Amino acid sequence: MPIVVTLTPNPAVDISTSVDRVEPVRKLRCSGESRDPGGGGINVARVASRLGARAIAIYPAGGFTGQRLESLVQGEGVESLVVPIQGETREDLTVLDETTHEEYRFVLPGPHLRDVEWMACLKVLAEMELKPDFICASGSLPPGAPEDFYARVAEIAEIRGVRFALDTSGPALKAALRDRVHLIKPNLAELRELVAGALDEDRSLIGACRALIAQGRTEVVALTLGAQGALLVVADAAWRARPLPIRPLSTVGAGDSFLGAMVWALASKLRLEEAFRYGAAAGAAALLAPGTDLCGAANVRRFLPQIEIERIDEPSVAA
Ligand SMILES: Nc1ncnc2c1ncn2[C@@H]1O[C@H](COP(=O)(O)OP(=O)(O)OP(=O)(O)O)[C@@H](O)[C@H]1O
Ligand SMILES: [Mg+2]
Repeated sequence: MPIVVTLTPNPAVDISTSVDRVEPVRKLRCSGESRDPGGGGINVARVASRLGARAIAIYPAGGFTGQRLESLVQGEGVESLVVPIQGETREDLTVLDETTHEEYRFVLPGPHLRDVEWMACLKVLAEMELKPDFICASGSLPPGAPEDFYARVAEIAEIRGVRFALDTSGPALKAALRDRVHLIKPNLAELRELVAGALDEDRSLIGACRALIAQGRTEVVALTLGAQGALLVVADAAWRARPLPIRPLSTVGAGDSFLGAMVWALASKLRLEEAFRYGAAAGAAALLAPGTDLCGAANVRRFLPQIEIERIDEPSVAA
């Protein structure tokens, strides 16, 4: 059983519900509610576990919501290595407007982490006895954590000799790439924050990913493009995964499902292209999961053979 360890510095309990129509002033009486453990790394661990990995999630937790988070994570079959904190773990809210079928996602900043608290998260990763097959860190940074938090994670992964995947955005992503990571999974907006210039067709997108690889920041870029599918770029090759024509029930969690499946596949020693296929199948499967729920393993396996991965021919540099 492959071992996947994830780190989530800013986890949350994700509440999802629906309402006939989102409007100001009027009381919006919601119907139904579900609570899922969330935050990027926890979601990746949930997906890896569903696909058959031993998944261990490292995260800070505090207060009543922190306790609830821990029991929700446990309920998913994911092992927790919790760093207790003084602050209260956050809750996020996703509301489906039943008239427009649009989802509104309210995301709170999260509790302030004290220096000893974020350092303790890194220490757990650095000192865990078990050697993971893959480390994945994902999500925003909470107030108090230094901008280079993920660069420190990359350093630990490097020292431990374990491949490291990162999914975050903005300054946290930029700062992380000071140290080389194995894989990043930006979406288009996140890539735009890293690389200047027009990014429209495959050629310029691949060029932008290559620039990051050439600078030694990452070895692999899995660029997800929502309804346009995804691109996989390494130094000397690139592939495209065509999206499946699915009418989404919810697109929330598609990115985390994509990465969770890819990480599971890489930890299972599957080839990179095959891992990419798993990612695309999981992204598609996530569209069938309501609210903040993630892809189901049965749907991932069902979609897998339907995913077309096409190698992109590029003019060779020497030619
Ligand atoms: N509307 C859609 N139609 C078809 N496939 C989709 C759609 N939305 C997402 N996907 C699939 O899921 C993958 C990941 O989605 P996306 O690029 O939206 O990730 P993201 O922006 O990181 O999402 P998140 O909001 O979860 O962070 C895509 O590469 C694609 O395979
Ligand atoms: Mg994302």
